[in-house]
Amino acid sequence: MSPCPLAYSAPLGQLFINSTGISRLAMRAATCSNTPMDRDEIRAMRRSYGELGLSESDANPNPITQFEIWLTTAAENPYVVEANAMVLGTISGDQPKARSVLLKEVSENGFVFYSNYESDKGKQISQNQNVSLTFPWFPMERQVIVLGTATKVSKAESADYFATRPWPSQIGAWASNQSEVIADRDSLQKNWDEIAAKYPEGSTVPLPPNWGGYCVEPHSIEFWQGRYSRLHDRLRYALDANKKWQLTRLAP
Ligand SMILES: Cc1cc2nc3c(=O)[nH]c(=O)nc-3n(C[C@H](O)[C@H](O)[C@H](O)COP(=O)(O)O)c2cc1C
Repeated sequence: MSPCPLAYSAPLGQLFINSTGISRLAMRAATCSNTPMDRDEIRAMRRSYGELGLSESDANPNPITQFEIWLTTAAENPYVVEANAMVLGTISGDQPKARSVLLKEVSENGFVFYSNYESDKGKQISQNQNVSLTFPWFPMERQVIVLGTATKVSKAESADYFATRPWPSQIGAWASNQSEVIADRDSLQKNWDEIAAKYPEGSTVPLPPNWGGYCVEPHSIEFWQGRYSRLHDRLRYALDANKKWQLTRLAP
C-alpha cells in the first residue's frame, strides 16, 4: 500500500503508540483508508489518563499565574501544536458558535485575541458579550475553560499589534471581509492583489477600521487535568462578590 501524503508525522504518530483505539486511527491515516469507522473503533478511542495531577495545594492562588504556567508548559511541549490556539464560543440568540482563534496576550486584564469586528463572531459579541475560551491541550491531557466578557481593546493597542504582523497578514486583513459569502477564490485573490499594490511590501499598512482586538475579562477559569480511572482533576476559580478568586473542585 502506498504511503499517504497526509499520514501523521513521526512525532505525532508516537502520541498514539500506547493507546489501543487511537493507534488504529493512526494506522488508518497512514494507509489512507476511506472505510468508515465502525462503532467499536469509535468506542475504542479511549485513553487511560495519567499520573500528573492538579491539587489545591499546587494550584497557584492566582488563576492567571496558573494559566501562564500551563501555557508555558504547553508551548514547550513538542506534541502541542499552536499552544496559544483557543476555541472561542459566542452566542447569537439561542444559537452558540465556536471557532479557533489565537491568544495574543494574557494579563490580569484578561485574554486578548484579534479578529474582524464585522465577522460572525464580531456581530455576535456586539449582541452578547458573554463568551467562552477553551484551550484544548489534548497531548497533555489538559484543558482550560475561561468564561468571561469580551470588549474591544483600544484602537491604539490594535494598531500597535497590527504593525507587528507580517505584511501578507496585514494585506489579508484588508482583503477579506471575514465571514461574508464570496463568489469564488479568484475574487479574494483579486482583492488581495489590489490592496497589495496599494500598500506594497515595506510600506506602512494602516489598521483596517473593522479589525482589532478583543479582551476577554474572565469571571471563571477551570483547569482540567486527565487522571487515571477517569478521576480527572477539575479546579475552578470563580470571582466572588468581592472580586476575589475562590477555588473549588468539580466532579469530573
Ligand atoms: C488554529 C487557528 C487559529 C485561528 N486564529 C484566528 C484568529 O486569531 N483570529 C481570527 O479572526 N480567526 C482565526 N482563525 C479562523 C477562525 O477560526 C474563523 O474561521 C474566523 O475567525 C471566522 O469566524 P466567524 O465566521 O465565526 O467570525 C483561526 C483558525 C484556526 C484553525
